Amino acid sequence: MHASTSIQTAETQDLVALATPHIQIKDLNVTIEGKRILKNINLSIPNNSVTSIIGPSGCGKTTLLKTLNRLVDDTKGVEISGSVLVNGEDIYAKDAEVTHIRKKMGLLSQKPFPLPMSIFENVAYGPRIHGERNKKLLKQIVETQLRNVGLWEEVKERLDASATRLSIGQQQRLCLARGLAVQPEIILGDESTSALDPISTQTIENLLIELKKDYTIVLVTHILRQARRVSDYILFVYNGEVVEFGKTEDVLLNPQNEITQQYVKGFIS
Ligand SMILES: Nc1ncnc2c1ncn2[C@@H]1O[C@H](COP(=O)(O)OP(=O)(O)O)[C@@H](O)[C@H]1O
Ligand SMILES: [Mg+2]
Repeated sequence: MHASTSIQTAETQDLVALATPHIQIKDLNVTIEGKRILKNINLSIPNNSVTSIIGPSGCGKTTLLKTLNRLVDDTKGVEISGSVLVNGEDIYAKDAEVTHIRKKMGLLSQKPFPLPMSIFENVAYGPRIHGERNKKLLKQIVETQLRNVGLWEEVKERLDASATRLSIGQQQRLCLARGLAVQPEIILGDESTSALDPISTQTIENLLIELKKDYTIVLVTHILRQARRVSDYILFVYNGEVVEFGKTEDVLLNPQNEITQQYVKGFIS
C-alpha cells in the first residue's frame, strides 16, 4: 500500500510538471516558400530543465527553435500557423509584441558574435537599450553576469579591452552573459558548442546544467553524447515531425519509435 502510494506520487509529480509547462506548442505548422518544414508540432516543455532537440541535418531543428522567439518570422516566404504559449500566453497572438517576446529569450548561436565593443559594453548593451542608465547598477549587472558564466576572474582586469580579442570559448561565454543581462526566462541554443574546443564545450555544458535552476533551456544539438550529458528531456525530430519526446534516458536508451531507434544507433545521420 505504502509502496504503491509513493510510486503514484512520483508519477503524479511528473504529470504535474508537464501539466504546467513553460512552453507549450500547439498544432504548429511552418511552411517556407510553399514547402512544409514543420508539420503539426504539439509539445510541452517543462520549466527549469534542459530539453535537447535532436535529429538529422535538415529535419527542422533550427526552424523549430526559431519559432520559440519568433526569429522564424524573418525568413523569406514563411507561413506560420498554430500557437506557441509561453507561460500560457500565445506569442503568435495578433497583439503579441515581438520585442517583449524576444526579451524573454536569450539566444546562443553556433558561433559567438560579440558586438564590436569592449567586454564591459557587450554585457551592458542589453540593459542600456532597455533603458538602464545607472552606472553603478550597470557595473553590478556586468560583474554578476560575468561571474555567472565563469568569466569574471579571467577578464576583470581588462573590461575595457575589445571583446573580439577573447578566445572563441570566452567569446561564447561572453555572449551568454550578454543574453542573461536582460533577464530572460528561457535560454535557446543552436549547436552552441560546435565552434568550440572540448574544454570550452565542457565549460558551456556545465554552465547550462547549472543555469537550469533559474531558466528553462532548449538546445539544438546533433551530438548525441552532448544531449545525453546535458538534457533532462529529448525531442527527436524527423522530416519536420516530432517523432518522440521523453526523458533523456528513455529516448536514448529505450526509444519507442523505430526511426528513433535507427537514429540513436547511428544508422541515420
Ligand atoms: N530560409 C530558408 N529558405 C528555404 N528553405 C529553408 C530556409 N531555412 C530552412 N529551410 C529548409 O527547411 C528545412 C529545415 O531546415 P533547418 O531547420 O535548418 O534544419 P536543421 O536545423 O535540422 O538542420 C531544410 O530543408 C531547409 O533547407
Ligand atoms: Mg540547424
